Amino acid sequence: MRVLVVGGAGYIGAHICKALSERGDTPVVLDNLSRGHRHAVKWGPLIEADVRDVDAVENVLTRYQIDAVMHFAANIEVGEGERDPLTFWDNNVGGVIALLQAMKRAGVKPLVFSSTCAVYGEPDTLPISESEPRTPVNVYGRTKHVVELMLEDVSRLGELHYAALRYFNAAGASPDGEIGEEHDPETHLVPNALKAAAGLGGPMHLFGDDYATPDGSCIRDFIHVMDLALAHLKALDRLMSGAPSFACNLGTGSGISVKEILNAVERVTGMAVPHTISPRRPGDAEQLISDTRLARELLEFQPHLSTADTIISHAWAFHAPRWRHGDADTLPGPA
Ligand SMILES: NC(=O)c1ccc[n+]([C@@H]2O[C@H](COP(=O)([O-])OP(=O)(O)OC[C@H]3O[C@@H](n4cnc5c(N)ncnc54)[C@H](O)[C@@H]3O)[C@@H](O)[C@H]2O)c1
Repeated sequence: MRVLVVGGAGYIGAHICKALSERGDTPVVLDNLSRGHRHAVKWGPLIEADVRDVDAVENVLTRYQIDAVMHFAANIEVGEGERDPLTFWDNNVGGVIALLQAMKRAGVKPLVFSSTCAVYGEPDTLPISESEPRTPVNVYGRTKHVVELMLEDVSRLGELHYAALRYFNAAGASPDGEIGEEHDPETHLVPNALKAAAGLGGPMHLFGDDYATPDGSCIRDFIHVMDLALAHLKALDRLMSGAPSFACNLGTGSGISVKEILNAVERVTGMAVPHTISPRRPGDAEQLISDTRLARELLEFQPHLSTADTIISHAWAFHAPRWRHGDADTLPGPA
């Protein structure tokens, strides 16, 4: 299959390109490189373009005879969305409108869309099933929720055939260390905890240690990025087999607290994680844990790399040599 991967120079998109290529599919990346990295595109062509450019996207779809599209491009930093909502609506919603117009013109119907557990907001019940009300509490979650509504509307007319995958917390790196998480700015826990352990950038912030959880820190459902990639392949195959459009969670069903992640970083790296306790951030739910039954049923998906130690070992194997190379004087040895 030839798959257009929009946002394929970014963290998750690049790992999906690797997985597609490893099983013999051809990923064609379209990315404006606003947040992604040219060096992360290794398994097929890179078309440097903005997804909001309908003509450019249509051109790629026809020129490369694309069979299906995967869409990862979005603004993802929650705080940024609160400060600049219009940019988020423009890119996260406007980007999908343009993509759907291009797909319609080119006659390409299958689409795998990156949604998020942020569509559920602060849910009442755990684990969170797909039937939980979708009441997002921030701009980021609202843009993803609205896109899901739009996909429902467009697919009803038979113009689209989609899977909306609601990821919980993606983390880790490819086990061979070839690619990993390189957001800039980086707001995600695992790379920031590793960075703090490596003595780069000062102590990290732990936001809130007075939640009603066993150790007082928030609990999240961390899914290894290569498990996520596997689920995408299964979702794509399900769409290509003619099954109806669907939305489903991608998580592990188990929660790991922020403090447990810091402990795992210390175990794996042998270094302490300097951190300061900061006030809770508004909109941070106490616990987000996925109900995994639908993913098991529809995709026969079962994560197998998503333990804290495996996630952190792979992330560390990716980062440590790069930091050592770039920051030879600042990377300390084991404590
Ligand atoms: N990282 C997570 O834990 C997580 C969790 C839930 C959902 N998601 C979703 O997964 C997707 C990918 O996340 P990520 O962590 O890989 O983000 P990322 O920022 O690493 O990747 C996004 C990519 O999209 C590109 N892009 C952005 N706007 C574009 C545009 N207008 N045209 C073309 N390219 C554009 C960026 O340059 C970047 O390469 C996002 O849609 C995000 O909302 C991520």
